[in-house]
Amino acid sequence: MDEPLSVRYRPLSPACGVEILGLDLSATLPQQTVDEIRALWNEHIVLVFRNQKITEEEQLQFASRFGKLGDRKPPPKKLKERTEGVLQNDQRVMLVSNKTIDGSPIGSFGDGDMWYHIDSGYSKNPYTYTFLYGVELPSEGGNTLFGNMYLAYESLSEELKGKLANQKALHIHQYERRARVDISGDISEIPHWYHPVFVTHPESGRKSLFVDRLMTQRIEGCTHEESEQLLEKLYAAGENPSVVYEHEWELGDFVMWDNRCAIHGRTWFDPKESRLLRRCTIEGGPLYEELSEYSQNRLQL
Ligand SMILES: [Fe+2]
Repeated sequence: MDEPLSVRYRPLSPACGVEILGLDLSATLPQQTVDEIRALWNEHIVLVFRNQKITEEEQLQFASRFGKLGDRKPPPKKLKERTEGVLQNDQRVMLVSNKTIDGSPIGSFGDGDMWYHIDSGYSKNPYTYTFLYGVELPSEGGNTLFGNMYLAYESLSEELKGKLANQKALHIHQYERRARVDISGDISEIPHWYHPVFVTHPESGRKSLFVDRLMTQRIEGCTHEESEQLLEKLYAAGENPSVVYEHEWELGDFVMWDNRCAIHGRTWFDPKESRLLRRCTIEGGPLYEELSEYSQNRLQL
């Protein structure tokens, strides 16, 4: 019989997310605790720890228990000023902030709302996990919305699932927060990749919808009009309130999520107020529609 979990937690919404209670993430946690956190993560997609006091080094240390820390993806030269803030000194850390020093942004993706997206979904190997720590918050808004993409996939009609099986979609990003990329011309200089519309999570074995409004822009193998219609249905499935958990930040919140089965977005906040969150990630690998493809592709390496 399995040992009972020692980690205590409580659900945050019917869609996804649990709050884990009674842990200090600045300490070095026993391996069994890390294993239990990972098991809860696999099941609940988004984990929240409240009232944490954690330095950048401690955050990286904790995150590294779950895999190889991710580096920020280097943007093309032309887009550098949108993402390379002046206080981002560690390649593994992104400061999600609207704050500036002498008119220069300290971090990335500063103000206002941000459409749903998958962190680095536009790359060949999207980050597996993201960890975000609340350092400075506006008095209201700037909430993070998480869409459970297992439930989004399951909500699609059998007809749509059949139609989009084995199809790929273009994910592309120009470091905008709430605008699509113009893909009518040459996109070779804009970061992009093609992923299956449906992916199987390599650990849970569950199918997930891998599409988001900000970065997924074109379904292959159909006309532009048809792609637009299909995408709107898929965006709506992931953004349906019944599959979404909305996180209202409190100072000291530490939130971690799985990018392979969640999209996330941000609600508006007053640009006159400051917001600063410290982000790090875990490197990922290619994503496949069928579980068997993971092992096949590993063998080819
Ligand atoms: Fe993000």
